[in-house]
Amino acid sequence: MSLKVGFIGWRGMVGSVLLDRMRAEGDFAGLEPVFFSTSQAGQSGPPEAKGAALRAAQDLDALSDCDVLVSCQGGEYTQTVYPRLRKQWSGYWIDAASTLRMDPQAVIVLDPVNGKQIQTALDRGIKTFAGGNCTVSLMLMAAAPLFQAGLVEWLISMTYQAASGAGAAKMLELVQQMKELSSAATRTPAQNALEVDRAMTEAQRSTELPQAEFGAPLAGSLIPWIDKAVPNGQTKEEWKGSAETNKILGLEPPVPVDGICVRVGTMRCHSQALCFKLRREVPLTEVEQLLASGNQWVRVIPNEKEASLHELTPTKVSGTLSVPIGRLHKLNMGPEFLGAFTVGDQLLWGAAEPLRRVLRIVRGEKAVASTV
Ligand code: HSE
Repeated sequence: MSLKVGFIGWRGMVGSVLLDRMRAEGDFAGLEPVFFSTSQAGQSGPPEAKGAALRAAQDLDALSDCDVLVSCQGGEYTQTVYPRLRKQWSGYWIDAASTLRMDPQAVIVLDPVNGKQIQTALDRGIKTFAGGNCTVSLMLMAAAPLFQAGLVEWLISMTYQAASGAGAAKMLELVQQMKELSSAATRTPAQNALEVDRAMTEAQRSTELPQAEFGAPLAGSLIPWIDKAVPNGQTKEEWKGSAETNKILGLEPPVPVDGICVRVGTMRCHSQALCFKLRREVPLTEVEQLLASGNQWVRVIPNEKEASLHELTPTKVSGTLSVPIGRLHKLNMGPEFLGAFTVGDQLLWGAAEPLRRVLRIVRGEKAVASTV
C-alpha cells in the first residue's frame, strides 16, 4: 500500500519549490499525494492530484486520513491546526514553519548535518519534523564540520539576507523598487555620477516608491532588521542563530552564535560573513579539508579575487544546491580567529530541500551520513 502524503501550502513559494524538487527527483513515485487548500477546497490541484479535488486544510478528519502531512502553509496555520490534529492523529508532520522548531518533541531537520539525530529520533518514535531557519541551515551546510569537530568556541555571523526570506510579495516589491530607481536614473540627462546619485536618492526617499511590504526602500539600500524584537536587543532572526544551531547539532554546552541580520537587495540567496573563534590554532589547510568533507554540496572556494568574484556570489548560487564557502583566512585578532564567507539558496537548502529529504527518510531511505 502506498503512503498517503498530504500537502498544505504547496502553491506558495516554498511549497512550489518543494513540488518542483520532488518532481525533479522522482519523489512522487510510490506516493499517494493529497492536496489541501485553506481557501480553494473543491477546486482542482496540480497534475499529481490526478484530477482529485483539493481538500479543505481545516478538515481535521481529511488531514488525519494521511500518513504524512507536509505543511508549507506558515506558522499561523501550524499554530491553529497542529495541536488539535495531534489529539486525533499520530502520523508524521513535516513543517517549513518555525512554530514547532524548539518543541522538545520535534527535530529540526537538515540531514546532511544531523542525519544521525533524525534517524535516532525516528527510532524513538518522534513524528514531528521542522525545517530550520534558512540562515542557520545555510551556515551549517557550509560550516557544520567545525562545530562537529569541537573546534568552535563561538561564532559571529553577519548576514546579507535576500528578499525571498521575507516572502514572494517582498521579492516583487524589491523588483518594483529597482524599476522605479532605474527609471529615475534614466530620466536624468547628465551622465554625471553625482547627478544620477541625486536622482536615485530622491526616488528612494519619495513617498511614491512602493514600500508597503518592507516599510523602507531596499533597492540600492539595506535594512538592518529582520523579524521582530526579542528582549535582549536582538531580533528574532538573530536569536534563532544560536538556538537553532545548538539544537540541530545537539551541542552541550551550547556554543554562542550571534550577529546582526541584514536584509539586502538580492532575490533568493542569503550570504553570511562568519567570524569563528576556534578553541585552538588550526592550520588553514586543515580547516579547508574539514569543511570540504562536510557533504557533497559544499565547495571550498580559494581565497582569491577571481574565484571570489565568480564562485562566491548570489548570482552564481541562485537556483542551485551548491553551498560555496570562501574568503577563508586568519583574522588580525589572532591565529584562532577564522574569517569566512558563504552563500546559499534560501529557497532550496534554506527551506524546501531539507523537507523533501526528510520525507524520503520517513519513507525509509537512509539519511546522508555525516562524514565528521
Ligand atoms: N527568516 C528568514 C528571512 C527566512 O527573513 O530571511 C528563512 O528562515
